[in-house]
Amino acid sequence: MSEETKTKKVTFQIEGNTYEGERGESLLGAIRKHGYEVPSLCYHEAVSPYGACRLCLVEVKKGRRQKLTTSCNYPVQEGIEVFLDTEKVQRNRKIVLELLVAKAPKAEAVRRLAEQYGAKTDRLEVEEEDKDNACILCGLCNRVCDEVVGAHAISFAGRGLHKRMESPYDEVAEDCIGCGACVWICPTDCIGIKETDTTRSIVRWHRDLPMQKCSACGQPFAPTFQLMQFAKKIKVEKTHFDKCPDCR
Ligand code: SF4
Ligand code: SF4
Ligand code: FES
Repeated sequence: MSEETKTKKVTFQIEGNTYEGERGESLLGAIRKHGYEVPSLCYHEAVSPYGACRLCLVEVKKGRRQKLTTSCNYPVQEGIEVFLDTEKVQRNRKIVLELLVAKAPKAEAVRRLAEQYGAKTDRLEVEEEDKDNACILCGLCNRVCDEVVGAHAISFAGRGLHKRMESPYDEVAEDCIGCGACVWICPTDCIGIKETDTTRSIVRWHRDLPMQKCSACGQPFAPTFQLMQFAKKIKVEKTHFDKCPDCR
């Protein structure tokens, strides 16, 4: 077995500077760890990479071959050389941003990046059905729901141009516990959460959940269904969560 396969540490270059990293870690994560900037909309270190938005493009040289690749789902390897801002990267990133603006014209985060990277926001025609769309199909919401929360409440539906992220049959997401993790992680803020004294609503998934009131101070602090699921998971009585964090 060679030294390289025995050890997890590898040496690689970013923009001509040499760094050490973990073999297999996300290249985008490594690039950012060393202080370089690369845009992304579908990457978060808490969930597995998916390679959907294609904004994190870089060029990687391995041996004699140099190719354009998304960096979030590219594993760090021994000896690779990474280039962040080549002419090819810039040109392709602009095309990606133009496509994203056409697909999700209401996504402010995409528009801001388009401006920052000099992409044209009016070059491609917007389909009628996309006029009010802000979802870029990044999949972060369902990855956080599946991999972190474990609720499996939402998923992709449809194919090709008609692919969308939604609750089952676009009706009430019965498995949604109302934790809000998807709302928090969505890069284009297109899920929506509303809260009153009695109810929390996760708008995009049509889910309304009654709120639990603290038995001591009377303030609503979390959806009752979410607390019941937590109690089940960590095997405690439902009453374990009858007080808010401040009164516990
Ligand atoms: S709010 Fe609902 S859909 Fe969103 S992550 Fe939590 S359980 Fe999943
Ligand atoms: S709703 Fe938000 S997080 Fe989910 S796929 Fe669309 S843009 Fe991504
Ligand atoms: S961040 Fe890499 S493809 Fe979206």
